[in-house]
This record gives sequence, C-alpha cells and structure tokens, in this order.
Amino acid sequence: MTHARQHQIQVVAHRGASEDAPEHTLAAYKKAVEDGADALECDVRLTADGHLVCVHDRRVNRTSNGRGAVSALELADLAALDFGSWRLAGEGPEAGPDGDSDGDSDGEVPDWEEGPDPADTSVLTLERLLELVAENNASGRHVQLAIETKHPTRWAGQVEERLLHLLKRFDLDAPPAGGPSPIRVMSFSARSLHRVRAASPTLPTVYLMQFVSPRHRDGRLPQGVRIAGPGIRIVRNHPGYVAKLKRAGHQVHVWTVNEPADVELCARLGVDAIITNRPKQVLSQLGRN
Ligand code: G3P
Ligand code: CA
Repeated sequence: MTHARQHQIQVVAHRGASEDAPEHTLAAYKKAVEDGADALECDVRLTADGHLVCVHDRRVNRTSNGRGAVSALELADLAALDFGSWRLAGEGPEAGPDGDSDGDSDGEVPDWEEGPDPADTSVLTLERLLELVAENNASGRHVQLAIETKHPTRWAGQVEERLLHLLKRFDLDAPPAGGPSPIRVMSFSARSLHRVRAASPTLPTVYLMQFVSPRHRDGRLPQGVRIAGPGIRIVRNHPGYVAKLKRAGHQVHVWTVNEPADVELCARLGVDAIITNRPKQVLSQLGRN
C-alpha cells in the first residue's frame, strides 16, 4: 500500500494482539510487542480494594472462569481466576464498548490452540503492564501505551487518581523533554480526561467517540483534548469527518479497525493511528513487515 510511505500510521494493539491471544493478558501484550506493534491499548477498572486491572467488561464472566463485577472483587479474588481458557473454548474475540458480550464478536475461532504459559493469562494489573512497557523501552524496543479509563464517573476521580499515582511511580506521568509521550489516556468521558489533564497537563488525552454528537460535529473536541478517537463506523459513514478533525488541529486515532478495507480507508484518509485486534496483519498491509 503506497499510503504508508507518505505517512506512517501508528499501529496500536487493541487489548494486546487480541485476535491471537486472550485479550488483556500478558500473553496478548507480549505477542503484540513481538508482532511489531507501535503501541498497546488497554482498558482499566478499579477492584474493590483499589487496584487498577486490565479488564474490558464490567464483569469477569466473559473473559475468565469466574463470575462477578470487577468492582466487587478484590485483586486476590481475580488472581485466582484463569483469563486464558475461554479462548480455547473458541469464544469470539470481542465485546462491544463497555458491554459484557453483546458487541462486535464475529465468532471466529482463534488461531491459538495450545495456549500460552498460565502465568501469562492471570489477571493483568496495570502495574504489570507498565513494567512490560518500561522493560521494553529500557531495552530500546519503544512501545507506547494507550490507557482507557472505564466507567470513571462511578468512582468520582479514584480511577484517575490511582492511574496518575502509578504513572508517577514509573516516571511516565509526563512526556520526556523533547520526546513523544510513551503514555496517553483515552476515555469516552470528557470529565475523566479533564481530571487527568488537571493532574498532569502534558499527558496526551484521547476523546473516544461512538457517534458524532452535535457539539463535536464541526471537529471541535472537549477543551484541552488534542486527539480524537472515532470508532470505525463513524469513519465509514462520515469520511469527511476525519478531514474536519485534522483541520481543527487534532490527531485521529481510529478503533477498532480489523478489516483490510477499513485499513485501506483509514490510510487513504490519513489517520494517525489504527487501533486493531490484529496488529501483525495491519502492519503487513501497511508494508511494515
Ligand atoms: O480503543 C478504543 C476502544 O477500545 C473503545 O472501545 O469497547 O473496545 O473499549 P472498547
Ligand atoms: Ca478500550
């Protein structure tokens, strides 16, 4: 594809290489790094005892052998669960935004038969994922992390507070002088992003959109947000919107882009990042591996 030579699109592994390994596990993130992804995407939720864990759904039912809401379970309860075997049973790879299992799953059986090391399929804390990013960056394999806050309003600032505290510990709460930030924070909640910027003004934030609301129709985003995160359906249905966002000075990061025709569309429109379950295939389509 010729577009890739004109404009390098960042390829972001959505929940890790989640087509090939169970989403949000260390196995999925290690695979994404191995595949050459530029960045990793993860969702974070607070446990009952205040730990940030990488889980998409409100409950653990779809992606583990346990039951119950993440917010009602302690980290030790989650650590006793297996977040890998559900993929061996051939479940579809994805749930819809913030949902349980009612989303875009196409029901494909994953290309993952033996399964990874069980140590890599236990619950993943954000802390462990930050360690993985830091280890890779220290060894010269630079990989960024796009962290999505899930249901931040319910916790009245605790998700962001805990997140910023962790980022500070890793010295990742601000971009290095003159360099790109290894971390960005994404949310469907403008309030959550506002809280992040209030605590750490230089940390990039991404405003996620499932549809274009009247107040953002002209390409403007919530105050202080520089990156737009439209869903692929917006891009398909309103291709002029990407140009509008770019004219307004924003970067555009599109999720979740798995089909070759959508990758082609995104490349043609000059988006800045493609968030995908299949980083290897997208990199290959863009002529990067
Ligand atoms: O990268 C943004 C995208 O992940 C938002 O949707 O439901 O997959 O978290 P969801
Ligand atoms: Ca997400």
